[in-house]
Parts: sequence; C-alpha cells; structure tokens
Amino acid sequence: MDKLVIEGGKPLSGTIVIQGAKNAALPILAASLLAEGTTTLDHVPDLLDIDVMLNILRELGCRAEHSGGTVVLDTDTAHTSHVPESLMRQMRSSIFLMGPLLARFGETQVYLPGGCAIGERKIDLHLEGLQALGAEIEEIGNRIICRADKLRGADIHLSFPSVGATENIMMAAALAEGKTTISNAAREPEIQDLQRFLNAMGAKIMGAGSDTITIDGVQSLTPCRYKVIPDRIVAGTIMVAAAATRGQVTLLNTQPAHLSSLIHVLRRAGVQIVIDGDIIKVGNASRPKAVERIVTSPYPAFPTDLQSQVMVLLTLADGVSVMKETIFEGRLKHVDELSRMGADIRVDMNAAFIRGVPRLYGATVEATDLRAGAALVIAGLAAQGRTVVEQIHHIDRGYEKIETMLSRLGARISRYSPVPNN
Ligand code: EPZ
Repeated sequence: MDKLVIEGGKPLSGTIVIQGAKNAALPILAASLLAEGTTTLDHVPDLLDIDVMLNILRELGCRAEHSGGTVVLDTDTAHTSHVPESLMRQMRSSIFLMGPLLARFGETQVYLPGGCAIGERKIDLHLEGLQALGAEIEEIGNRIICRADKLRGADIHLSFPSVGATENIMMAAALAEGKTTISNAAREPEIQDLQRFLNAMGAKIMGAGSDTITIDGVQSLTPCRYKVIPDRIVAGTIMVAAAATRGQVTLLNTQPAHLSSLIHVLRRAGVQIVIDGDIIKVGNASRPKAVERIVTSPYPAFPTDLQSQVMVLLTLADGVSVMKETIFEGRLKHVDELSRMGADIRVDMNAAFIRGVPRLYGATVEATDLRAGAALVIAGLAAQGRTVVEQIHHIDRGYEKIETMLSRLGARISRYSPVPNN
C-alpha cells in the first residue's frame, strides 16, 4: 500500500487552485441517471470515490469518460438498476443512487452500505423518505429491494438533517407525481449544487440551503452541461495546513461563504485571513491561540469533515481547547495517532480536550479515514522530523494527488509505492 513520507517544519507558502467538490460531484453524477442522453460535468476531481461512482454507472450500462476534470456521461444505454455489492462496499454513499434508479426504472436493488471507521452510517432516513414517496422496500439479508410503479409527492420530515437522505429524496421526488416537501432538510452547499443541477435539467426545486425544500415533480428531465462547485473541505484543509505550519497561502477558486464557520474558528485562534471575492489568503506567523469550545454540527455550523484537521492546529496552540464531535460516533480515531506524535489530548465520550504542546514530533502513523488521514498529513508538515503516513488510499478518496498539491506549496512530501514482489 502507498505511503507518504513528510519532512516537517517548513512553512507552506504559495498559491493553489481548489479542486471541484467530491461531495457535490457524487450526487450530481447519480442524478444524471434521471435523464436519458449525454450529461457533461466540469470541475470533477480525479479521486478514488469518483472512479468508483463512474464504475458503478458503467456497471449499470452507462458510458462514462473522465479526462481533464470533465466527465461525459451517456445514460441512454443504462439497462439495469442493480448496484453490485462489491462496488457499493467501496463507497457507502453510493446509497443515494437508490432515488434516481427508483425514479427511472421503477425498481432498484442495492446493498446495506455497512459501517466504516467513522461510524455506523445508518440509512433509515433514506428508506423512510423513499417509502413516503410510495416505494415498497424489502430487505433480504444485506440486500435491499425497492419498487415503485409510480412515485407520488409527499410531506417528509427528517428527524436528522441527513445530507444523503436529503439528496436521495430530492432526486426521487424530481420525477414523482405532485409536490414533495422535505422539512428539516440538510442545508449543505452540496445540496444547493444538486438543486441547481436538477433545475438545469428541468426540475422544479426550491429551498435548498434552507431547512425546507419543495419539489414539484415533472414528467421528464433533459441532460445538460454543468460545473461543480469548489471543494470547501479541501480548501479548509489547506487553510489549516497553512496555519499549522505558520505559512502564507493564497487559495484561488473558493467560495468563502461556504467556509464561514471555519474562518470564524481560525480567526479566534489568531490566524490572519483576508477574503477577496473567490480568493482566500491565510497567514499565521505565531503560535495559535486555543479555542475554548468547538462543536461539530450540520451546516452552516462547524463541519465534522474539518474536525480532525483543526484539532491538529489546536495541538500546537497556547492553552486548552475542547472539540466535541456530534455527527459521527467514531470520528476521533486520529487522536491516538496524534498522541504518538507528542500531542496532549484526552478524550471523554465524544469530546476531546486538547492541551497545546510546543511542538509535534515525526512518527509513523496510520490513516483510519479520509479526513483523519488529511489531519495526519498536516501534523507531519508541522512536526519536527520525519513522518510516514500509511494507508493513504483513504486520503486519495478525497484529495487529488495530495503530495503534488502540497509540494507546490513548498512541502517536503513524497509518495512511496512498494515494489510488488513478483
Ligand atoms: C455526507 O455523508 C458526506 N458525504 C460526509 O463526508 C459528511 O461527513 C456528512 O455528509 C455530514 O456532513 C458525502 O456527501 C458523499 P449524513 P452522509 O447522512 O450523507 C446519521 C467526507 O469526509 N444518519 O448527514 O452519509 C449518520 O449515521 C464524508 O467527505 C442516520 O442516522 O451523512 C451520521 O451519524 C465523510 N440515518 C449522521 O446522520 C440515515 O438514514 C450524518 O449522516 C442517514 C444518516
């Protein structure tokens, strides 16, 4: 398995263009199934998760090409709605294919996505939402069979603003008969991007970004060309890396409004941030200040996907910070690895108490999930000495060639691929 080797202690500096958003591109690729014909998507990042989604779409019979950041997807030849278990297990969020497959084919067969390092990843809200639209759902072992001769609009309330469930329901309701309302909907920017994409195909959806989304079902949708929003989590990761290495970095192609909660936290830590249109400049020349209390919550509050990265900054802050993870029950696994680099962190239930230390020390550490892996890279960049990050396939799921991206900002980082023993 590949690993990253990092010589720490060098401040990041320079300019970087932020990649397209993985968590916007994935549901938009799924939504492309709602229209027969050729959809073209620009600014789609070259990531393992995108590859898996394209392979699933090919398994369903679509033709898909991805080059130079553009995906050309022909769904005319889609001929099945059964998603292979092996591919579903590679990417749990493929569960939001249920909605578009059900809307297009009247039935679909998927598999329970199962849990992962960060949590159980339940899908009850997805299934309840599709049932409210008229779907009959049967679970046989870990197989889920879903049928609906006709989807009909409904009033749906989510007990938790689940991102995936909101997306699944939006996509199924787009072709349902009548009106659907989703209350307590997720408000993430990726939901807004999905609404813009669906409406560009001829859907009638309003309210994405608020907690109530209304969908007036239409007869059919038309393929279109669409550009995906920038990745706010990749941008946030780079901003934290700049702060943790006491560097000076300019980020291009961002949407600062998507990062308000992170910008607020970083400014409380004493990091200088200047915003100019879609440009964010991050600078930090001194030891950061502790941030008394950060609680991860649904958007627009502080995102769980930046929790582990900001924790690294706080391990080097002057004082004690508290971070509480309320979204995923297993998203503090990076604490053990950071402690092996000299961090002083105590965990009590879902809260981490972080006492700043003068420095971190390089070590060999293991990525347990996508964002924990990114956090360990930031720790390696800030640490004194050499850090080796293993299991970096997790990181490749969400960051385009992270070592290339960071080397361009002056980082001393290389990827090592073990020579296969013949
Ligand atoms: C999306 O996951 C993102 N993934 C995640 O990003 C992100 O962390 C998460 O939203 C929260 O913002 C994609 O968009 C592809 P949820 P999703 O449904 O849709 C519980 C990354 O690092 N829940 O909002 O799976 C669930 O167990 C990834 O890029 C139910 O109980 O998130 C979890 O505790 C990681 N029942 C919480 O809600 C359900 O039916 C949040 O889940 C669905 C979810």
